[in-house]
Amino acid sequence: MIHLALFCSGSGSNAQQIMEYFLGNVQIKVALVVSSNPEAYVLQRAAGFGIPTIIISKEDLKSEGDLLPILKNHHIDYIILAGFIWKIPSKIVDTFTDKILNIHPSLLPKFGGKGMYGIKVHEAVKLQGEKESGMTIHLVNHKYDDGRILYQDICQVFAQDTPEDISQRVLKLEHFHYSRVIDNYITSRELQQMGNS
Ligand code: GRF
Repeated sequence: MIHLALFCSGSGSNAQQIMEYFLGNVQIKVALVVSSNPEAYVLQRAAGFGIPTIIISKEDLKSEGDLLPILKNHHIDYIILAGFIWKIPSKIVDTFTDKILNIHPSLLPKFGGKGMYGIKVHEAVKLQGEKESGMTIHLVNHKYDDGRILYQDICQVFAQDTPEDISQRVLKLEHFHYSRVIDNYITSRELQQMGNS
């Protein structure tokens, strides 16, 4: 059984999709939800699925030494970032090489990098007069929004769209693709590892 930890900071609508998708799956399960925010709605969503949660502070995350044993205790194999606000520290990236996935609400490398999150992304898309936007699912490395791209999908941006309109359209794409891309990536990677061993 492969154990996932979902890292979130807010509403967790992507986390909700992922928890639903893997419910009853015999190979992959969501074993832990890590939140950077004690008020985050994702904590209630996780409770609804009976999935354990922990809250971490920025200091906890920076002193990676504290988080790693927690992930180990929960037998975490892959980390799924779903609206997690802070950068993942080096030691965790090195421990989970090619095993951390993120979703970003733009067509990377456009509109990515430090400070590019939430509505700011869609405001920038609007300001630049882009005709299309979309979402990117990628692996996490040591730089912001820079790891290998696993999947992208595009949506139109209309002249009359507000940043909120763009955000809603992109979020729909995220909900549609993220769980399936996680499943495909992990399943094929694990098969490959088995073949190599
Ligand atoms: C999503 O737009 C995702 O791309 C970004 O953060 C947002 C999270 O939304 N990384 P939610 O908490 O899953 O609703």
